[in-house]
Amino acid sequence: MLFSKNKKIDMTNIPQHIAIIMDGNGRWAKKRGLSRSFGHREGSKTLRKIVEACYELGVKYLTVYAFSTENWSRPKEEVDELMKLLLEYLRNAEKEIKGKNVRIRVIGDRKGLPEEIRTEIDRVEKNTQHISGLDFIIALNYGGRQEITAAVTRLIEDVKAGKVSEINEAEIAKRLYTHDIPDPDLLIRTSGEIRLSNFLIWQSSYSELFFCDVLWPDFTKKHLIEAIMSYQGRQRRFGGLKC
Ligand code: FPP
Repeated sequence: MLFSKNKKIDMTNIPQHIAIIMDGNGRWAKKRGLSRSFGHREGSKTLRKIVEACYELGVKYLTVYAFSTENWSRPKEEVDELMKLLLEYLRNAEKEIKGKNVRIRVIGDRKGLPEEIRTEIDRVEKNTQHISGLDFIIALNYGGRQEITAAVTRLIEDVKAGKVSEINEAEIAKRLYTHDIPDPDLLIRTSGEIRLSNFLIWQSSYSELFFCDVLWPDFTKKHLIEAIMSYQGRQRRFGGLKC
């Protein structure tokens, strides 16, 4: 049994899908007089620990916001460093998850990514597709509005081709990157910012939101448990009435 502030986490009510906006790498580095890229590197170490923690807690899906469609507007040096980190992670992915039941997937617009990253994504996804424990989903060159626009564009093409007779929510959801992934139960954002920043905007309509001031490199399993316990104290009604 795991504890936080003398309370116990309910292991029978672990959110099935946790989504995380890993914010605050830059501020963490600045506070220490280090480069923003150093902050991202520390952030990737935190991510490794949180993937492990989610796996141990029995979370089925973990989605993290690693690079948004808007992040290209950052200085070239920072973008290059982030791409380098992502490439490194993907190249070592099998080693990272060795002995654990973790499947790795990537959501986002792949066409806009460097060729070598696309190659690694294809390889890792193929090599881990049979794994059924934790689905670790990396949102890369991802933007919620871009995702919905692409889904609607495909839907219109299918309507024109006579493959679909009715436009409804299910037909849109089927064309999102997350078509085979349940919506997040809990969405966490670190660093004190209180917004979604174009992350899973369709899918998080009924997610429980948890915001904390901790900068991402300082986020630990203890903070994750705090977020889960906050989730466990809430009543989810999905627009209905309390039972
Ligand atoms: C936001 O913090 C963070 C990012 C844009 C990048 C997140 C990437 C990682 C944690 C590491 C790489 C991921 C993988 C999958 C290996 P920020 O830079 O906007 O922080 P700030 O708001 O303090 O400036």
